[in-house]
Amino acid sequence: MSSLGLCGLTGQNGAAPHLRCRYCRAMPAGGPVSSAPWWRDAVFYQIYPRSFADANGDGVGDLDGIRAHLADLVWLGVDALWLSPFYRSPMADFGYDVSDHCDVDPIFGDLAAFDALLAEAHALGLRVIIDWVPNHTSDQHPWFLDASSSRTSQHRDWYVWREPDEDGTPPNNWVAAFDLTAPAWSVHPATDQWYLHLFDPAQPDLNWDEPAVVAAMHDVLRFWLDRGVDGFRADVLHTIGKFPDLPDDPPAVAGIPHCALNDVPVTHERIRAIRSVLDGYPDERVLVGEIYLMTTDAIATYYGTGDEVHMAFNFPALYAPWTADRWRAVIAETMATLEPRGAWPTWVLSNHDNPRHRTRYDLAARRRGEDAATTTRRSEARARAAATLLLTLRGTPFLYQGEELGLLDAEISPEQALDPGGRDGCRGPLPWDGSVGHGWPTGVGGTEPWLPLPPEAEFRDRAAQREDPGSILNMYRRLLQLRRSLPALRTGDLELLDAPDGVLALRRGAGADSCLILINTTGEDVELPAALSPIDGRVLFASDQVGPTAIAPVSLGADQALILGL
Ligand code: NOJ
Repeated sequence: MSSLGLCGLTGQNGAAPHLRCRYCRAMPAGGPVSSAPWWRDAVFYQIYPRSFADANGDGVGDLDGIRAHLADLVWLGVDALWLSPFYRSPMADFGYDVSDHCDVDPIFGDLAAFDALLAEAHALGLRVIIDWVPNHTSDQHPWFLDASSSRTSQHRDWYVWREPDEDGTPPNNWVAAFDLTAPAWSVHPATDQWYLHLFDPAQPDLNWDEPAVVAAMHDVLRFWLDRGVDGFRADVLHTIGKFPDLPDDPPAVAGIPHCALNDVPVTHERIRAIRSVLDGYPDERVLVGEIYLMTTDAIATYYGTGDEVHMAFNFPALYAPWTADRWRAVIAETMATLEPRGAWPTWVLSNHDNPRHRTRYDLAARRRGEDAATTTRRSEARARAAATLLLTLRGTPFLYQGEELGLLDAEISPEQALDPGGRDGCRGPLPWDGSVGHGWPTGVGGTEPWLPLPPEAEFRDRAAQREDPGSILNMYRRLLQLRRSLPALRTGDLELLDAPDGVLALRRGAGADSCLILINTTGEDVELPAALSPIDGRVLFASDQVGPTAIAPVSLGADQALILGL
């Protein structure tokens, strides 16, 4: 028996119309059909595997743990997952130091566990993209082990080597990430040359001028594309091209890690070649670039003419403080820079490299003089308002695991610190239930979670929040449902409107289908001008209420966000 899907293809084995079909999955369940490419319509959810869910009870999250919770993510209403690295790795940078790109680290499972996870995610209608780390490998990767075995080894030129100077200084003034006092170079004593590492010394940079490196890294892409992944988040993709003579960074930017400065024309042709590999596969496999440059202008160039990345992370937005003025400027600049190129924005508030936004906004408020009691009162309300903005902007939002629970950063004592970049706080394990360990080992038998759980785990666990209609988890779910049901919120145009101080006002879409989004970034009620309180506006969503109210409000509550249907 077969059934006809929206794609016009025939379902196999009597499967329900194409829930499993890549083409039909462009149709959000319960929402209108969209003609946009799937990745423009999707909401992504970033999973940091070590901290998501622990199926085997060893204190470190794993692939089976992710698979066990796929249904929770479907319930939440996200469309696609981005998995941070799960490859074989000595974990000097917790997986971003890859020692085998085509295998799963035993701490996370094995290839069979990955295949099972991917198959189940696809069966549930979730796309899956994975991290690909092209700029560097682990120093324990067989390529580097061979490269460092002698100056004439087969893989020597796969990495970047320079002769030592007589005065013993590094070959240039580049600064490594993580330890900003350290050069991006280390001496390899056995072969008496410096090797380049934009990150930790245990992460030597690959030499993309060497054709064999390009071929090998393309093969890695094919390995995972053949297994069925829907695309890649490409780690610091802008760093795979470097000026051949590796010139010093200008004195004006001394002290900034070179990975935030490297912006070299040859990288673009390399990305076009990577894109061709993806385009050789059916179903629009997506390339999301981590272009870690600090201006949207610079980031925008990596979209090419539609032939480089499909999407790039936009760091000025992630680093914007929670004020209406700053966000207004960031939104205006992002739209003005990307729209003329036909480039599609991304929006991110939190990820595995930065303090969670709830933590960041609280700390900033305290620095501005907010007292502790006020911060405690406003903290979640601010996070709710920020989520409303994130999910109503024009572009593809990326959620970071745990923000839907309203998590703060874990508190890490100096003895507990593990990460060379000081990023442990945002990586605290997710609390799943009300049990003593919240789904993680409790210390009995000596096994503990690899990092402490975040504060408030005792009332922020997912199981409890799921039962509570007023929880932030259910608020995210309502927001995602609304986004899915309203084309204006997914792909409609965005217009920034005049608004009172401290308020962001946006219109999405046009005419009868449009919505008005009002975000109060202040801790005071704000009276709305008539233009922002349309008589026939219907409140479709309120960040602080469970059900929509019928009447258009004349004021916004403190830290409140509203979506009005017009
Ligand atoms: C960016 C990743 O997001 C970060 O976690 C990692 O440490 C560096 N790239 C190096 O791979």
